[in-house]
Amino acid sequence: MALRRSKEPVHWSSSRNVKLNKGADIKAQGLSRSYRMGEAEIRAVDDISFSIAAGEFVALLGASGSGKSSLLNLIAGLDTPTAGSVAVAGRDLARMSREELARYRRSTVGMVFQAFNLVPAMTVLENVELPMRFAEVPRELRMDRARASLERVGLGHRLNHRPSELSGGEQQRSSLARALVNSPSLLLADEPTGNLDSRTGGEIMDLIHQINLEGTSILMVTHERPLAERYASRFIFLRDGKLVEDPVPA
Ligand SMILES: Nc1ncnc2c1ncn2[C@@H]1O[C@H](COP(=O)(O)OP(=O)(O)OP(=O)(O)O)[C@@H](O)[C@H]1O
Ligand SMILES: [Mg+2]
Repeated sequence: MALRRSKEPVHWSSSRNVKLNKGADIKAQGLSRSYRMGEAEIRAVDDISFSIAAGEFVALLGASGSGKSSLLNLIAGLDTPTAGSVAVAGRDLARMSREELARYRRSTVGMVFQAFNLVPAMTVLENVELPMRFAEVPRELRMDRARASLERVGLGHRLNHRPSELSGGEQQRSSLARALVNSPSLLLADEPTGNLDSRTGGEIMDLIHQINLEGTSILMVTHERPLAERYASRFIFLRDGKLVEDPVPA
């Protein structure tokens, strides 16, 4: 399947207050993360090397416990490898200072999860505004951008709802709006449709596809192979923390 990536960076929308977008590439070299549990060592990510080009849409598949979320956390800079390295947009995460890593997590990567992970006590607008507070964006700009990001995912009419007052699909749209508000060059999605019915899941996937068309690289964990086949240009398979060949070649 051809990569659906435009050659030039594209505005999300000329009328909206969002930045240009350029996809980030990923290079993992002997990447490992093991956990010590008493006497036992669990190799959640076991000596993995791979590259993802800027602007690719890659699906990450594997059985439960194969290390998918552990790998995503390493790429997101939420966890550190026990061996090996991972570089995003040419920068080795292990060599970043604390401040650089914080900026990386805020601005280069966006993350969405199966369970949405919205703050229940905050409105949708406040949830989406939150990452910009950490980025110290001025308040007036934050509100404008949060609103624009929510309009982009079709939620302009739900700004003051709390997460519990939204449908599952709307909650996932909100978490997408939050992930996108600082214009990340890489979107990491951990089973973003896992809690949604197939029609709503399809709508979320269409949005993620659109984000990819505008330049953002996507690495998406999914258990649903048909979904991966429909949207991703390439698959990566994990088994027991290791990269494996496609277990069911097409
Ligand atoms: N904090 C931790 N401490 C100890 N072991 C862990 C920890 N986190 C994950 N593991 C183990 O590492 C392995 C990989 O877990 P991971 O969450 O990455 O799997 P996964 O592929 O995302 O699974 P699922 O599809 O169920 O989400 C599992 O065996 C898990 O039990
Ligand atoms: Mg997982």
